[in-house]
Amino acid sequence: MSFLENKWWKQAIGYQIYLRSFYDTNGDGIGDINGIIEKLDYLKDLGVDLLWICPFYKSPMDDNGYDVSDFYDISPEYGTLEDAKRLIKEAHKRGIRIIADLVMNQTSDEHEWFMESRKSLDNPYRDYYIWQKGKIVDGKEVEPTNWASFFGGSCWQKDDITGEYYMKIFSKKMPDLNWANEAVRKSMFVMAKFWLDLGIDGFRVDAVAHIARSKTFEDSTMDSNEKYKPDWRKFSNLPKLHDYLKEFNHEVLSKYDVMTVGEVGGGAMPKEAIEYAGLNRDELNMVFNFDHNWCNNVWDLKDPNEKVVTNLPHLKDMFDKWQTNLYGNAWHPIYWLNHDQPRVMSQYGNVEKRILSGSMLATALYFMWGTPFIYQGEEIGMTNYPFKTIEDFNDVSVKNSYHIACVEGNQDKDRFIGFTAHRSRDNARTPMQWKNAPYAGFSSAKPWFHENPNYTSINVEDEQNNPDSLLNYYKKVLKLRKDPTYIDTFIFGDYEQVLREHPSVYAYLRSYEDDILVVTNFFDDVQTVSIEGLEVEVLLLSNYKNTVPTLKHLVLRPYESFVLKVKKTI
Ligand code: GLC
Ligand code: CA
Repeated sequence: MSFLENKWWKQAIGYQIYLRSFYDTNGDGIGDINGIIEKLDYLKDLGVDLLWICPFYKSPMDDNGYDVSDFYDISPEYGTLEDAKRLIKEAHKRGIRIIADLVMNQTSDEHEWFMESRKSLDNPYRDYYIWQKGKIVDGKEVEPTNWASFFGGSCWQKDDITGEYYMKIFSKKMPDLNWANEAVRKSMFVMAKFWLDLGIDGFRVDAVAHIARSKTFEDSTMDSNEKYKPDWRKFSNLPKLHDYLKEFNHEVLSKYDVMTVGEVGGGAMPKEAIEYAGLNRDELNMVFNFDHNWCNNVWDLKDPNEKVVTNLPHLKDMFDKWQTNLYGNAWHPIYWLNHDQPRVMSQYGNVEKRILSGSMLATALYFMWGTPFIYQGEEIGMTNYPFKTIEDFNDVSVKNSYHIACVEGNQDKDRFIGFTAHRSRDNARTPMQWKNAPYAGFSSAKPWFHENPNYTSINVEDEQNNPDSLLNYYKKVLKLRKDPTYIDTFIFGDYEQVLREHPSVYAYLRSYEDDILVVTNFFDDVQTVSIEGLEVEVLLLSNYKNTVPTLKHLVLRPYESFVLKVKKTI
């Protein structure tokens, strides 16, 4: 496949749905599949034509569905298989495709494979998971290795039935599958086929970077004070997983016209992304990385009340790194946040100037090359939640970390809550704010998770009624991206940063059939810049009421942003 080959998923505009918090139709306070069906016209009107839906399978919901107990059925709180079929049909009718979240790394401990596996050493399913004996150190039994789990503590859990430990890099209710076992791979492939045959258009492949493990279960020698070492190399991006992905592609994906986007996340470099998604690799179509998600001071705060400040030079470098190294080599998704990150409005935006800063952020991102994924609520500028106590949180990883830090350890509780409020995944998971009505118009009953109290001023209905709203600006952005005159430049044009050294302005040029310049002021003050060698031909979009600007002397008001068709003059 050539980089310039036109595939539907290169043109698609994606939208991620955290099902549990999207829209509740039956009054149980939990978002459901029928809720997505009811909002399909809203999504179509927004301009999206691809939905990534977070896990909807049967699950005890320890990690809100990433702990699957039956891959072949829908969780009853979300609906039925018939609802899922209807959703696929109704979406397709509107020209909207759907990708499912494919959870490959683990199952729930309540999955029948695991319930069998733990029964005895010689159970036929024993090898579906990763079991090891404990180690004896100074006459005492400890975990097989000192490796940490992403959700806090050890990545091993002792199981009393056989006295061995199973691996779980997330929560203890999420035992890791053993992909080295061919039977596991085959079972997963059959499952993936089941969904594709139902009409699903592809997958977001969850935690795919972890499906191969170091085969030698040796302690990490990482230099860190923690008891369990966060040495993710032991189970991330290991070469063997590429054999598994090639097999998956060969046996399943290649037989359908579908797309895949893998979650590869922290630590992966463009070189690794090209290994997953390179043009002739026959593995995945693209992979998510997290490099641009934390380009501010939220992990370095000395005090939780300190102001969150964007580190724009760092953010610019991260965008450059991916936009230039992957161009021509591998496709790429572009996104601001997902269900595992804080709200972008609270990360890089300005809640007080929601519409201006939100429209700037949309402009800065969505004219890069790659497949966009908007996260639910981003289009109205939803913000972080004002968490005050540990009870306010839902996320199992927050609860685990709190226990280790403040119950077993002696970290100050208020400080822990203060820092976690900035960083927590729960920020993205509060109910979608549909209108200024009880429970944010998400449900007729008390939602499973608190609505953000700012729904009174930030909600879809008000945004729809205001021509100058953020929602209406998002529609303009997406419409321009699909404009037949410029679409090829937006999809296939290369990317070159302009004003690279500027600390407050982010600007880049996309060149293909046309040259299109994007200029954005990331901050709440006026910037004057001069861009040489380019002349404006058409003002395509701006977040102020504007006339055609002069590039030689360009005064940018707070968060001012432009998309301009330009001509090269030298
Ligand atoms: C991915 C998901 C995250 C989940 C984890 C375990 O990172 O995005 O929400 O907790 O995998 O499946
Ligand atoms: Ca419901």
